[in-house]
Amino acid sequence: MLRLLLILAVTCLTLAVPHEKLVEKRSSAIPIIEEYHVIDGQMDWYEAKAACEEKNWQLAQPRTQFQMDEIMKLYVAGFYWIGVSDENHEGNFTYCSDNHPITYSNWDTNEPNNEHGAENCVEVWKLAGKWNDVNCTVVRASAFCEQHGPVCEPHMRTFDERTYNFQGIGWYHLFKDCSENPTFEVTTKFEPREDSTPDNIKTRTIAINVTVGNQYAIIDGRDVTTGRTGGQVTDAKVITVQEEEKDIKLHFTSKDTTFSLKWTLRKHALDVSYSGSFYSGKLCGLMGNADDDPRNDFQKPDGTITKNAIEFGESWKVTDKK
Ligand SMILES: *[C@@H]1O[C@H](CO)[C@@H](O)[C@H](O)[C@H]1NC(C)=O
Ligand SMILES: *[C@@H]1O[C@H](CO)[C@@H](O)[C@H](O)[C@H]1NC(C)=O
Ligand SMILES: *[C@@H]1O[C@H](CO)[C@@H](O)[C@H](O)[C@H]1NC(C)=O
Repeated sequence: MLRLLLILAVTCLTLAVPHEKLVEKRSSAIPIIEEYHVIDGQMDWYEAKAACEEKNWQLAQPRTQFQMDEIMKLYVAGFYWIGVSDENHEGNFTYCSDNHPITYSNWDTNEPNNEHGAENCVEVWKLAGKWNDVNCTVVRASAFCEQHGPVCEPHMRTFDERTYNFQGIGWYHLFKDCSENPTFEVTTKFEPREDSTPDNIKTRTIAINVTVGNQYAIIDGRDVTTGRTGGQVTDAKVITVQEEEKDIKLHFTSKDTTFSLKWTLRKHALDVSYSGSFYSGKLCGLMGNADDDPRNDFQKPDGTITKNAIEFGESWKVTDKK
């Protein structure tokens, strides 16, 4: 299992970096989806794709059941195109915006069947959100489109892909082990960007503190400090840090799970991913509990769930540090 988080502190100022970089960044992570839309009509797949793009949207490309459920809130009746096709290689369905193999599917029984040998595009054709492969040139469906979040706005995203806007200042618990015998915690320091005003504070990540057992690594800008907090000393190096030209990568393993952090210095952007299953539902902090359900992600340290992103964010402030 792989989960990706993107704390985008991509500012309009840092967008002065070459544009391809941004594209690369966005396609390497799950895009941040702001909203879904329907464009009604009798269109073939290409027309539907163009209709979404004309509004600066894309054909919807559901990557999780949660996203599919969100899309289906807009379903009324009939057929709706989504941005999935196997036009490039028969049988290998990919997302139309980045050609990556699909990570989720909701095929109807006996689909995809490539009937008549020319069914390369995907439509949703039933209330249950079921998928059917169909000839891309059949003129019969409306379009489901997705609108991506503005790239100039900072965003937080949990392991379960809930996105929210939170502009805290100071140290916060990004994610930590909330199992019975906790072994690690990761805190991050946010500070206002240069272009913040008192009425409109925008923050960026400036430092990261990873503690695993009695070992720690602190990344403060370019400076990396690693060490032990005392107590029992083992030879095992639990945290590994790789310093590269443009980014710093940090990995640590606990139980069956390896966590990877990639901190892109110039963009002040931090990607976190993990592989492993032990911590499903056992994490807590600004990145939620990683149980696959985005709805319960705003859980505070006292166990209660709030709907308010700011209340949630502030509850994870590290209280004994400025
Ligand atoms: C289709 O996808 C599978 C699994 O991802 C891959 O092994 C295979 O090479 C792909 N086939 C083509 C024709 O791209
Ligand atoms: C299906 O697709 C093929 C080419 O892929 C096209 O020649 C044919 O006309 C299409 N059939 C229909 C009914 O649209
Ligand atoms: C890093 O985090 C650990 C655990 O929360 C804490 O004890 C330590 O003081 C922190 N170090 C710094 C420099 O913030």
